[in-house]
Order: sequence, then C-alpha cells, then structure tokens
Amino acid sequence: MSLITIDDFSYPQGWTDPKHSEERARWCCSQLEDGHVLFFERIPFDFPEANLHFLRTQQQSSSSLHKNISYRPHQDKLRGFAAEAREEVERLHEVMRYYSAQVVEFLSRLLVPYSPHWKLDFASFRPLEEQGRDLPLHKRNDLLHVDAFPGRPTRGGRILRCFTNINLTQPRRWLIGDNFPEIAKHYSIDAGLQKIAQRAATPAGALRKAFAPLQHLVRRRTAERAAYDEVMLRLHDYLKENEAFQREGTKIRTDFPPGSTWIVFTDAVPHAVLSGRLALEQTLIIPIAALMSPEKSPLRKLEEIAGRSLAN
Ligand SMILES: [Fe+2]
Repeated sequence: MSLITIDDFSYPQGWTDPKHSEERARWCCSQLEDGHVLFFERIPFDFPEANLHFLRTQQQSSSSLHKNISYRPHQDKLRGFAAEAREEVERLHEVMRYYSAQVVEFLSRLLVPYSPHWKLDFASFRPLEEQGRDLPLHKRNDLLHVDAFPGRPTRGGRILRCFTNINLTQPRRWLIGDNFPEIAKHYSIDAGLQKIAQRAATPAGALRKAFAPLQHLVRRRTAERAAYDEVMLRLHDYLKENEAFQREGTKIRTDFPPGSTWIVFTDAVPHAVLSGRLALEQTLIIPIAALMSPEKSPLRKLEEIAGRSLAN
C-alpha cells in the first residue's frame, strides 16, 4: 500500500492537460484496485466554509448527536441524529445533501470508468473522537479490519469510500495493513472460507438460494447475501478477534491532516481508526464488471483460494 498524493506531479502527463483525462481516470482506478490510497491535501470539491463551520460546531453539542450520522442519497433521508431543534436537523440535512452531491460529482470526474456503473451508497458524518470509544469488539474502529456491510450485501461489488478530515487542527490517525491478497492467503481459511463456500454449494444451500424470493419476506438481508458476503463478514469479525494479527500484522501509521481527502477500497485495504474527530465520508459500490482488473478483486482472490464461485 502507498499513499498517492494527487497533484500535478503524480501523473506522468500532469493533471491539467484535458487530452489525457480518460487515461488519467483509468490510472486512478488502477491505483485504487492495486490497494493504494489516493490522497488530496485539500478538499477537492466545492464545500462552503459556512457548511464546514456548521459541522465543526456540532461536536460541542455531541450529546445531542449520535456517533455516526448517515445520509441516504437515494431516499434523501438523514439518520442517526438526535438533535432536538428542528432548524438544526434541517440544516444538517441540507449540508449532508450538498456534501453527498458534490463529492459524487467530483468522483464521477476523477473515476470516469466507474461512474456509469456504480451504486450510490450512504454518506456519513462522524462527529465524535475515535480514541477511547467504548464499543463492542466487532464494532470497534481501532482494530484492523476490512469492511463488509451486514445490512447491505454487495455480492462481489467493491466498497469504495471517500473520506475528508474537516477538523481544523487534529489529524485523523489510521493504521493501514497488508494488501488483500496477503490477508486472504493467511487468514481466509481460518476465518471459514471453505466452510461457507461448501455450504453454499450443497443442495440445501442451492435450495435456500432458489427460495430466496420467499425468504426475502422473512429474512431479507440474509437471503440477499452471496457466499462472498458471508465470507467478508466473517473475515471482518475474525480479523478483529485475532489478537496476534492485531499485534503483529503489518501496519503503517498514517496521519491524514486537517482538510485532507482520501479515497480507498476499504473492503481490501485493512484499516483502523486510532484517533480523530469530525470526518465526512461517502461510499460507492463498484460492480465487479466495472473494474479495470476484476481478477484483483477480493471476490476473485477468495474464489481462487476456495476453488469455486462465491457469487451466489
Ligand atoms: Fe472500516
């Protein structure tokens, strides 16, 4: 993993020459798929100072806000807040709606090959200090993990996230671990890859999938999961539970300074958040068919090890 600073010197043709924009976009996608982090020293999309100020002042009344405020762009819904004043909620909604639209517009220019195909996921605002949070083990952010969503299976689609540290003075401190092929090679079998793959391939597993539309009525989330989603959820938990991995696994401490933005496939790059408060984040799901190199994806890497398809 390396942090690739996006400025006029980081791409052979420079960033300002429009002749190379398509090639540059493919290059950015390839860097992300290779497990690198694209880094911008400043916010690379429009976000007015008044919006930043509003979000920064929310921390002072954090008892009135939950740990993680999410915005669902498709439904234009705000979740996770507990602010009492109606005007405050409306303003927060407006700020998150604007943030989500701006960051998506920026990413659609930066990552052109993905944008016609991606699925817009949630945006979030994280107002609380990460250091010292008292959370159950599987929800802890300060333990190295790869992302998987229990409630939103991707069926092999990639989890791409764009973060911005809007804190004026404090960096957002991450640990970043080994790339996915290494993680998959060393830990996926122990985490239960073969068992899940075999179960999905049994007649009972096939039957369960065949009746998925009916299960859908009862246990929607489980029915929609492919074997891949089950493996990734298990790997997420397994890595957090594994004390030896947390203690001895390769990790690089990375400070994202105030005002910086970074983009990363968090389903493949192990990460932990050690400290920092006031971050914004937008998630996009990139289908496997839209990738530059699908063979490098976690789905294909895990299938190589399992020796069978995990897509169902
Ligand atoms: Fe994460």
